[in-house]
Amino acid sequence: MRVVTIIPTYNEIESLPLTLGRLRAAVPSSDVLIVDDNSPDGTGDLADRAAAGDDQVHVLHRTGKEGLGAAYIAGFRWGMEREYDLLVEMDADGSHRPEQLQSLLDVVDGADLVIGSRWVRGGSVENWPLRRTLLSRAGSFYSRTMLGLPVRDITAGFRVFRRTTLEALDLSAVESVGYGFQVDMTFRVARLGLRIVEVPITFVERELGASKMSGNIVLEAILNVTRWGLDARWKKLTGSAG
Ligand code: GDD
Ligand code: MN
Repeated sequence: MRVVTIIPTYNEIESLPLTLGRLRAAVPSSDVLIVDDNSPDGTGDLADRAAAGDDQVHVLHRTGKEGLGAAYIAGFRWGMEREYDLLVEMDADGSHRPEQLQSLLDVVDGADLVIGSRWVRGGSVENWPLRRTLLSRAGSFYSRTMLGLPVRDITAGFRVFRRTTLEALDLSAVESVGYGFQVDMTFRVARLGLRIVEVPITFVERELGASKMSGNIVLEAILNVTRWGLDARWKKLTGSAG
């Protein structure tokens, strides 16, 4: 199985080298694709230097900050064109511990999407302020209820997709810009009847740099989840297809 780990970056100059080093040590067989949105702090140049010294590391440069969803979709396309079997999503800031990636890869035989989950037994979060914990739990609860999904950590960003799963989706239809992208993808995979497996992880809040989470990102997610949920209910009521 050929694996590529996709790491989206925006101003991660301090975190990226540490995460990259840990990833290369923990899962040496995985290639890496850094998708940088022209970070003002020079993360893109740093990524280029890393790629120059390691032929398993690649960089995709984008012209500006267009959101996590757009960065991942560009990364998926890159990986699908190169026929990787497994495409991994991982944050650059160390919150997703590279040492736990293997435990996600270990269950992929029985799954179409593996989610590294904070909110299943054995999963946890370290050093998050109460505000973020509540936001994440409430966001997962609302999405789960609204969309009827049996997934505990719907916004999680540590994932393994089979290429066949991504091929079954219509990536060009994914409109989510922010972190709601993760919910969007989960919902799409579930609607196709594909297998989603959650594996417990310990999410460790970053020590360096700053989160890119914003009010707009939260608002986009709430509005989209509400719209998708109502839409699904309406279609069920009227018996229309889709
Ligand atoms: N290329 C690109 N473009 N990368 C981005 C962008 C963007 O517009 N926005 C964020 N990123 C990158 C960051 O540089 C980092 O590597 C990763 O995406 C996650 O961003 P953070 O800002 O560290 O996210 P977080 O810690 O607040 O949020 C975490 O929890 C969310 C809610 O559960 C992440 O795991 C998210 O994926 C998750 O949805
Ligand atoms: Mn983070």
